[in-house]
Amino acid sequence: MLPTLEIAEDLLNEALQCNPGPWGNHSRVTAHCAKSIAARCENMDENKAYILGLLHDIGRKFGTRHLGHVSDGYSYMESLGYDEVAQICLTHSFHNQSTDEYIGKFDTSEAETALINRSLKNVQMTDYDRLIQLCDALAGSEGVLDIEERMLDVKKRYGCYPQSKWDSNIYLKKYFENKANGNIYEIVKKDTYRPH
Ligand SMILES: [Fe+2]
Repeated sequence: MLPTLEIAEDLLNEALQCNPGPWGNHSRVTAHCAKSIAARCENMDENKAYILGLLHDIGRKFGTRHLGHVSDGYSYMESLGYDEVAQICLTHSFHNQSTDEYIGKFDTSEAETALINRSLKNVQMTDYDRLIQLCDALAGSEGVLDIEERMLDVKKRYGCYPQSKWDSNIYLKKYFENKANGNIYEIVKKDTYRPH
């Protein structure tokens, strides 16, 4: 089940009151990119893509955590019955459906780590999972970024960036450029779009 757009906006705003930060606008940029790309793909619903983008990081409501924001978001959305969003909270950080490539601190409890691993194994990845992975990698908090510049920035901040994750982001960009039949940066209006 998926929340309506109005409910999704409310959930994000409420979460930002609990834990304000640039992740709010990052979520809006992700949603904007997802909607713009989905609108040009056959068999994709732009409204659904927007809602999933808006809520992919909703786990940040519960504080500043690394891997923990994944289990927080997953459990929170499951508790409200929004299973489609819960899946995105889970899959957006793991291109290969495992935590091996996770960049950031493993700051989860044993139970949370087990929940992530167990749920990830059972997921059937769809184009919505792939789309949000791509858009997460394109979205800064002030606008759309060059995907390679963004990955270099992450590499600088964390000291490393797994080559396989780098390659899969480049692959996803090409995959959606084929599907949407256009240049990703033009489709998402990289140079002019700003969140508000
Ligand atoms: Fe994100």
